[in-house]
Amino acid sequence: MIDHKTITLDYQKPEAADGHAVWKLVKRSGGLDVNTSYAYILLCDQFRDTCCVGKQEERTLGFVSAFRKPSEPNTLFVWQIAVDPILRGNGIASKLLAEVLRRDDNADIQYVEATIGPDNIASRQLFLRLAKTFGAECAISELYGEELFPEAHDAELLFRIGPLRRGAGRLEN
Ligand SMILES: CC(C)(COP(=O)(O)OP(=O)(O)OC[C@H]1O[C@@H](n2cnc3c(N)ncnc32)[C@H](O)[C@@H]1OP(=O)(O)O)[C@@H](O)C(=O)NCCC(=O)NCCS
Repeated sequence: MIDHKTITLDYQKPEAADGHAVWKLVKRSGGLDVNTSYAYILLCDQFRDTCCVGKQEERTLGFVSAFRKPSEPNTLFVWQIAVDPILRGNGIASKLLAEVLRRDDNADIQYVEATIGPDNIASRQLFLRLAKTFGAECAISELYGEELFPEAHDAELLFRIGPLRRGAGRLEN
């Protein structure tokens, strides 16, 4: 049973065993491309240092997948972020991102990037809030134009946030 009054999640590095529940979370979140279960198992295992799961009583209610850009390791590229529909608007997505950034082994990350569809207001607001929290600029440009996609797909806008002011980024659980 989820306690809606005290929404305190445990924010953890995921493990391979979390992949199944993450895949189910992404499916019920809506608005996201649902990748294979294998992709989520792989992310939770091989990219665990830059991913985070939010759980309450063993229920997986939030997830962020991200990786360091191979060409620019001090930049965290956020791939997908999902919060259970019943818990949105409670700062959970912001805390998932803050948790990844406050890990000791991620202290050298200075920039955060994500692509956002033009109609995804919640996601846009989330990353603008992240920039504000970390006292950083947010530059917006087009990264993947609609002509790149085989199906009808809006252009993906790149949000590049940074440099992060680490002392500014404090979000309590
Ligand atoms: C995007 C998403 C992860 C946000 O999760 P969340 O936990 O509700 O976000 P937060 O509560 O941390 O909100 C962060 C900021 O965004 C704002 N925000 C969140 N949802 C919003 C909405 N629907 N409309 C307007 N602003 C919104 C919040 O007010 C907050 O800004 P503030 O601190 O300045 O008030 C969630 O809506 C979701 O899972 N959506 C479906 C999947 C998706 O689109 N993911 C993003 C693309 S990968």
